[in-house]
Amino acid sequence: MGESLLFACKDRENYQLSSPNCKLFSFWCRFFNLFMYFCSRKAFQRPTFYISHFTFYIQSFMNYDFDRLIDRSGTGDVKHCKLQEFYGRSDLLPLWVADTEFETPPFITEALRRRLEHSLFGYTVTPEALWTAVGDWLLARHGWQVERSWLTFIPGIVKGIGLVVNCLLDPDERVIIQPPVYHPFRLVPQHNGRLVVTNPLIEERDADGALHYRMDFNGLETLARDPQNRLLILSNPHNPAGIVWEPETLRRVAAICAANDVLVISDEIHCDMTLFGHRHTPFATVSPEAAQCSITFGAPSKTFNIAGIVSSYAIVPNDSLRRRFYGWLDANEFADPHLFAPIATIAAFSPEGEEWRQQMVRYVEGNVQFVEDFCREQLPQIRPVRPEASYLVWLDCRALGLEHDALTDLFVNRARLALNDGEMFGSEGRGFMRLNVGCPRSLLQQAMEQLRAAICVK
Ligand SMILES: Cc1ncc(COP(=O)(O)O)c(C=O)c1O
Repeated sequence: MGESLLFACKDRENYQLSSPNCKLFSFWCRFFNLFMYFCSRKAFQRPTFYISHFTFYIQSFMNYDFDRLIDRSGTGDVKHCKLQEFYGRSDLLPLWVADTEFETPPFITEALRRRLEHSLFGYTVTPEALWTAVGDWLLARHGWQVERSWLTFIPGIVKGIGLVVNCLLDPDERVIIQPPVYHPFRLVPQHNGRLVVTNPLIEERDADGALHYRMDFNGLETLARDPQNRLLILSNPHNPAGIVWEPETLRRVAAICAANDVLVISDEIHCDMTLFGHRHTPFATVSPEAAQCSITFGAPSKTFNIAGIVSSYAIVPNDSLRRRFYGWLDANEFADPHLFAPIATIAAFSPEGEEWRQQMVRYVEGNVQFVEDFCREQLPQIRPVRPEASYLVWLDCRALGLEHDALTDLFVNRARLALNDGEMFGSEGRGFMRLNVGCPRSLLQQAMEQLRAAICVK
């Protein structure tokens, strides 16, 4: 055990959790750490609190292995199983659907396994520890002190948007979105019979020619003034371009929306994966009016790769809005999580989760850098927009000079890659592709080689 630890300290980068000694050590560390963590919650600021952090410190010398290729066949995952349906062929390297190819952290699987050992899965109360875990996480990670009463469970964020639309909008009221943006922001309201109006993001280039987006405040104000436009759906951070919005931007959005009685859904599902030193700002924290005019949605699902477990939460500081929305959720039992959602979330939002998260984010940064270097050196016609958050890279392919159909043909039929076609996020995404880099680097390398081969023989 001592030897393993010494080795881990000497060669942290190369160390993997694979030697039997290390696995044993890790197991005891995790067990002890978890035990102490829960003790420390009950008896806050007792010595256990410090011991817990000490063991956590030791444990942090271990690296998780994000290079490992995991065979998902037989799991029914959308990324592989829907290839034929979406792309017309199944022999593609799939880098589309926004989950990762990383193994769900072992401490989450372990927590679920412990519960599975008791094979009676009847109606179960929602543990209060869920809300302590979410509250502590938001405070520690984002400096946001939320009150217990502001929090409730929602059965997924896309479903949450549908719930808001159905509960809080009249049939003739409209939704504002700012494309290019995550397509369910448009589809969910439309499929619920609501009109969607757009305030496209504005493209800008910096001195180095790199592409950035900013919000069109004038356009937003014009739309917000129309009393039929009642809801703005904001991707904070932004999918697909990976933007971490500045506090001042969010403050202006809040001022415009609050002044015009427009409700804001701030979808913060990507907030725990800020990259390259960027910091996430929760929308509701930027001003008192932001807190009053908004519903925030969050989840551990993207960060910890547990989208299939479906565990999300809403935060509503405004009393009357909360009574109306949460009352309706309760009336329909939408706010009752299934048995496994709190277990996975509590395990994720823990000190172990924070260590895993940091390592995962570092790995993703390496992947982004890899794609940037590859494009600069070998595919200059493709210019990645550097994401400030999450594992999605917005590739500007316009310099290839291809129309939409030719571009998708290049990626799908020649390069044999399944990426998200930029137009899915609105016509503003024409000429772009969204690449999911939440995968072992070897897969990414294979994808980039396939793309280069396809472009070079074009
Ligand atoms: C911005 C954004 N919101 C929501 C979701 C999906 O959330 P859920 O699976 O909880 O519906 C995604 C998934 O890609 C996303 O990118």
